[in-house]
Amino acid sequence: MIKRVGILTGGGDCPGLNAVIRAVAKSLILKYDIEVFGISDGFEGLIERRVRPLTFDDVSGILQRGGTILGASNKANPFRHAVKKGDDFEYRDVSDQVMAYIDELGLDALVSIGGDGTMAISSRLIKKGVPIVGVPKTIDNDLDGTDITFGYDTAVAVAAEAIDRIHTTAQSHHRVMLVEVMGRYSGWLALGAGIAGGADVILIPEIEFELDAICNYIMERSKIGRQFTIISVAEGAKSKGGEQVVQRKVEDSPDQIRLGGIAIKLGNEIEDKLGWETRATVLGHLQRGGSPTAFDRILATRYGVAAADCIKNKDFNKMVALHGNDIETVNIEDIGGKIRNVPEDSDLISGAESVGTSFGR
Ligand code: F6P
Repeated sequence: MIKRVGILTGGGDCPGLNAVIRAVAKSLILKYDIEVFGISDGFEGLIERRVRPLTFDDVSGILQRGGTILGASNKANPFRHAVKKGDDFEYRDVSDQVMAYIDELGLDALVSIGGDGTMAISSRLIKKGVPIVGVPKTIDNDLDGTDITFGYDTAVAVAAEAIDRIHTTAQSHHRVMLVEVMGRYSGWLALGAGIAGGADVILIPEIEFELDAICNYIMERSKIGRQFTIISVAEGAKSKGGEQVVQRKVEDSPDQIRLGGIAIKLGNEIEDKLGWETRATVLGHLQRGGSPTAFDRILATRYGVAAADCIKNKDFNKMVALHGNDIETVNIEDIGGKIRNVPEDSDLISGAESVGTSFGR
């Protein structure tokens, strides 16, 4: 009998997290009479013993709220816990301590909501004997095993709206305007936002760009009367043979690299080459904030309910996933640590090219 379940939100925050927490907790409490405990700040709560019971009231009225009522951490890892030692960090495996705490709390299973990092840690905890059900989250949409992660639709909508607004100034002032979109090492976000916002150029990590190709395209547009160009550029985009632009390194984070700055760099290069006035806008965390779209609320609810069903049926060590229109499950151990890139033959790329969009190649 499953009596008590813990729930955590790992990795960065993301629109729809609260909608999942609500769906998991409400269905476990209402349908199955299972107690729910909220773990604070992802795996950090298990390391630092910050766990509290979640009541029906605690998870009411949060469907539309951004962020996560539990808090999140994209650093905490029980297998590599960073402890500050002077100016440096020392890394310790505290997974046995976490196992003992899970036992002490009487948790029969965990629901872990997160991206590839969270699924990789979950996979290791599974090997140590913790029954886990995963829920796929990330605005980057780069998680393997599912067609779409919740949060992506909201981030695309925010970035597309930004591109719409950038159009005004680009057109009025005859400028080349670059909008830098998140997405880490994959281009789903820049591609989706670029298509939805009608960007003229879309640059993604999967397709290395050439400055000359972009400049030629800008000049061709000019010849046919378009005295402006909008570029949707993924933070992970890079030129042929070039490097991704790193904004900072977060020492105590499992993935230390934080990308950012390509829009400013490329904008300067275009301006130097063409003498055309350029501006760059970096959207940053705007894309992760605020209320989820209706699509994400529905997807998050479907995922959460399916995760609760998995718990009840003891269908453990699975991640719920969207395949076509159906919610199915995949093995968590097949997921963690893998990045799902935009396939070269994606119809999103060929479709965008069909309507005249350039990928800078
Ligand atoms: O994975 C989500 C994401 O927003 C990426 O798109 C981005 O590269 C990264 O997280 C930013 O991380 P942080 O919030 O630590 O700056």
